[in-house]
Amino acid sequence: MLSYRHSYHAGNHADVVKHLVEVAILEYLKKKDKPFCYHDTHAGAGLYSLQSEHAQKTSEYAGGIGKLFQYQAKNSSLNSYIKLVQQLNPTGTLQFYPGSPVIAKTLLRKDDSIQATELHPTDYPLLAAQFHGRRHCRIEQLDAYAGIRAMLPPLHKRGLVLIDPPYELKTEYQDLIKGLQQAVQRFPQATYAIWYPVIERASIEAVLQAIVDTGIRNQLRIEMCPLPDSEGFGMTGAGMWVINPPFTLAYDMRDALAELAPILSANATWTVQQEVAE
Ligand SMILES: C[S@@+](CC[C@H](N)C(=O)[O-])C[C@H]1O[C@@H](n2cnc3c(N)ncnc32)[C@H](O)[C@@H]1O
Repeated sequence: MLSYRHSYHAGNHADVVKHLVEVAILEYLKKKDKPFCYHDTHAGAGLYSLQSEHAQKTSEYAGGIGKLFQYQAKNSSLNSYIKLVQQLNPTGTLQFYPGSPVIAKTLLRKDDSIQATELHPTDYPLLAAQFHGRRHCRIEQLDAYAGIRAMLPPLHKRGLVLIDPPYELKTEYQDLIKGLQQAVQRFPQATYAIWYPVIERASIEAVLQAIVDTGIRNQLRIEMCPLPDSEGFGMTGAGMWVINPPFTLAYDMRDALAELAPILSANATWTVQQEVAE
């Protein structure tokens, strides 16, 4: 079943936090001259028109990037993220929003490599078109976890693996734990960033505990909730669970989320917490 389309949700508050963390990690990896690999397991379409019927139907972006587009941030990662979205909208009006692989394409240097998998028959060709002509890239219409087995480890033994499932099926949580273990075994040097929604607190905590229980070292929670926890009201918040984070990330994200949260919602709460030690 592939009913999820990210075009309905692009640029919402959950994307803002996800892509802010992605930008911060990629900027950190670029501090060394040595090339690295960005691997995106659930890549989506790559670039989204916020004027599309899908985006206009939900208007979710208005509660996310819509509140930030003209904002001048003090935190440098938040500033880089907003500037990147501004670059893709040179007229000064918010029309397009980049997905995770296009964010990587924009930030990576020519010798860094990009790998991405996406299964959806409509979104895959849109994604592949974004990478036409780029060297050092491999974009496949493949299951995320088959992609991990087929494409990891990459040539360059440093990098970021972004895991961003739609969580439409209950089985996706088990697939995530198993796939993550396989990925870390194959590519232990990488940083892993796993996106998760907060819909029902007890259920998501059970999944996060299962990640802790894998025994993988060095796990960091980065979470922001515009609304208080509640059941039956949809997604109230979201986070990135980062394994093997850059040593600067926790400090940087505390600073960024303290600035970002009140812009997104007067009642927003956030957490940046080391959950498993190095
Ligand atoms: C949340 S969206 C990705 C958004 C994207 N990472 C971003 O931040 O711009 C999840 C994507 O996973 C795709 N998908 C669902 N199941 C998949 C699977 N088993 N393997 C690969 N992609 C899958 C969906 O079609 C959807 O485009």
